[in-house]
Amino acid sequence: MLSDNDAVPYDPPGSVPASEALFARAKAVTPGGVNSPVRAFNAVGGTPRFIRSAQGAWLTDVDGNDYVDLICSWGPMLLGHAHPEVLAAVSAAVARGTSYGTPTEPEVELAEELVHRAPVEEVRFVSSGTEATMSAIRLARGFTGRDVVIKFAGCYHGHVDALLASAGSGLATFAVPGTPGVPASSTELTVVLPYNDRDAVSKAFAEYGDRIACLITEASPGNMGVVPPLPGFNAFLAEICATNGALFISDEVMTGFRASAQGHWGLDGKVEGWTPDLVTFGKVMGGGFPAAAFGGRAEIMRRLSPEGPVYQAGTLAGNPIATTAGLATLRLATDDVYAHISAAAETVKGAIAEAFGAAGLPHVIQNAGTMFSVFLTDEPVTDFEGAKRTDEQAYAALFHSMLDQGVYLPPSAYEAWFLSSAHDERAVQQIIDALPAAARAAAAASEGEKK
Ligand SMILES: Cc1ncc(COP(=O)(O)O)c(C=O)c1O
Repeated sequence: MLSDNDAVPYDPPGSVPASEALFARAKAVTPGGVNSPVRAFNAVGGTPRFIRSAQGAWLTDVDGNDYVDLICSWGPMLLGHAHPEVLAAVSAAVARGTSYGTPTEPEVELAEELVHRAPVEEVRFVSSGTEATMSAIRLARGFTGRDVVIKFAGCYHGHVDALLASAGSGLATFAVPGTPGVPASSTELTVVLPYNDRDAVSKAFAEYGDRIACLITEASPGNMGVVPPLPGFNAFLAEICATNGALFISDEVMTGFRASAQGHWGLDGKVEGWTPDLVTFGKVMGGGFPAAAFGGRAEIMRRLSPEGPVYQAGTLAGNPIATTAGLATLRLATDDVYAHISAAAETVKGAIAEAFGAAGLPHVIQNAGTMFSVFLTDEPVTDFEGAKRTDEQAYAALFHSMLDQGVYLPPSAYEAWFLSSAHDERAVQQIIDALPAAARAAAAASEGEKK
């Protein structure tokens, strides 16, 4: 029998690298050669690495190169790759069949776990974060009988038509489609506001108060790089929603069971200062499988079909393999896990500051719990406009130097960097060792732009 390592033969020296050959094949049959745009390396140039296997903190590509993984599947792999206990639970579940389209025990157990840990009374499972936010908005509209949705520029909630929206021509005006293919009618009930801007939020509520079904925000944005809420901002949002009879949706697809464990809501489900009406989950709660969820107060959730009139469904929703993986992951996500990741993140952040400082590379490092990112600018970043001041060319140089030295950063300047409990001393040291040369390459690229 072939082991995983034997599954893709290495190319003999001198032939086209396997990643390049696969990318050429992929581009012939898939738009851009990828199934999610950021994977294509368009923002940094070059050929994406096709990964053959992963173990702990490490990725191995089809050419046999190893990388310390700072993407962690864009968040889900809190425990690192191929965690033995998660794999054992999944293998046992697979042997019992992979999907039945009936209720199962693992989905009840995972729902109980979410209800126990997060500020929600009931949850409904779906298969992606996009479905979770789309369904939460439908439920908010069904519950309130209102139509208008508020979101923030730079927050990403999946590729929901109504949320792929850009701000209209004035503050607190209705949005325009953010991409071809979204009809104007899908965004004409969406208002896009600058993040962390209380005045803009107050103005929008003054203008549309009794039409607003919900406000959706990332609990701590990670999709424009990490831009934490200013102190009290989430509590302000919760309050203004409550005052105006709108629902406050906290999108925790990225932060849930990652950053949220350290401040947004506690591991024991305690809420610190603010309570969302609905919460969306994804990533970590699926343990690396396509699982997501939305949840909230029973009074709201019970408006969902079949108990209530708001329709929502899914063929693979609550899939037994995905829920088993999620359950195994959450049960292993102890305080020690978060403490380990936090310590690793602190070490890496310190090394970044030192290397970038030595290279004279302007930078701002921001974090939300264990999630962090680096903006190549010297001005504070509190919203999307600020995030866009990052030097993208310098980031591309940083990215490629790190990649050449065996560290896989997000191939975009606007993404969070993720660590896992499997990032041990060896993995962290490889990152630290790679940083000085990468910082010099980025500083040189930055200087080159100015000439
Ligand atoms: C905050 C947030 N919400 C929603 C989504 C969409 O999730 P998915 O990619 O599973 O559809 C993402 C994805 O990155 C996200 O970060």
